[in-house]
Amino acid sequence: MNTAALQDAARVLRRAKRLVVLTGAGMSKESGIPTFRDALEGLWAQFDPEELATPQAFQRNPRLVWEWYEMRRRRVLEVQPHAGHYALAALEKRLPHVTIITQNVDGLHRRAGSTDVIELHGNITQHKCFADCRGAPTLLALSELIGDSVPPRCPHCGAYARPNVVWFNEFLPAEALTRARDLCLRADVVLIVGTSGVVQPAASLPYLAKRSGNAFLIDVNPERDEIAPICDLFLQGTAGNILPRLVELMDA
Ligand code: APR
Repeated sequence: MNTAALQDAARVLRRAKRLVVLTGAGMSKESGIPTFRDALEGLWAQFDPEELATPQAFQRNPRLVWEWYEMRRRRVLEVQPHAGHYALAALEKRLPHVTIITQNVDGLHRRAGSTDVIELHGNITQHKCFADCRGAPTLLALSELIGDSVPPRCPHCGAYARPNVVWFNEFLPAEALTRARDLCLRADVVLIVGTSGVVQPAASLPYLAKRSGNAFLIDVNPERDEIAPICDLFLQGTAGNILPRLVELMDA
């Protein structure tokens, strides 16, 4: 890793007034969370995402989709945040405004102590009513779900319960996306970690920050991703390795 680039990044971060951190699946890799596709192993290898991660798939085979997400939810609850998650949480003590915008559904940023986290794709540890009968999202605790069916049902309207994640063919939560865009418009520094930069609309956020506010973009990824060409600094390496070193250098 290029030490000069790390030092430059630390210098920029130290002065950041409105920092946005955008994270993707690579952020969670060192915690042992497989990406959606990596998780299609064993019994699940015969399926493709369209059979498991769309509202249509759920309507066709609610039990199958529910069991797939329950398996992944249990896995998420077994793992721990890593040093990179804790380093991002530690930024809150050093900078006036830090918001994490994540595409991950595992909740690891909050578990590491970050307090301002926008979950663009929802949270796999939560459940909601499939009909969103009390407004979107109608969140439901597992303990309040009713019936003997798999999936169990919403206690208010009797519709099936489902995971609180964004499926293919669904809109992102409007409030989360609006706030994410607004923060990117006003950010002076954007730290991008572990995203391939191909899944929209999340991938467009760094472009928004660059074009409208001329934010300084720092990208952390072991491989050059789609966003790297517009970034001011590319830090090649993993989240668990680079982020703690960055915070250390900020303090030096
Ligand atoms: N640290 C940092 N980055 C890493 C690491 C690591 N340890 N390991 C891998 N990466 C990088 C990869 O090089 C890749 O660029 O993380 C990126 C992961 O890319 P994707 O799997 O495409 O993840 P993401 O960009 O989050 O995809 C967005 O797609 O499947 C949907 O909803 C799902 O949120 C996900 C979305």
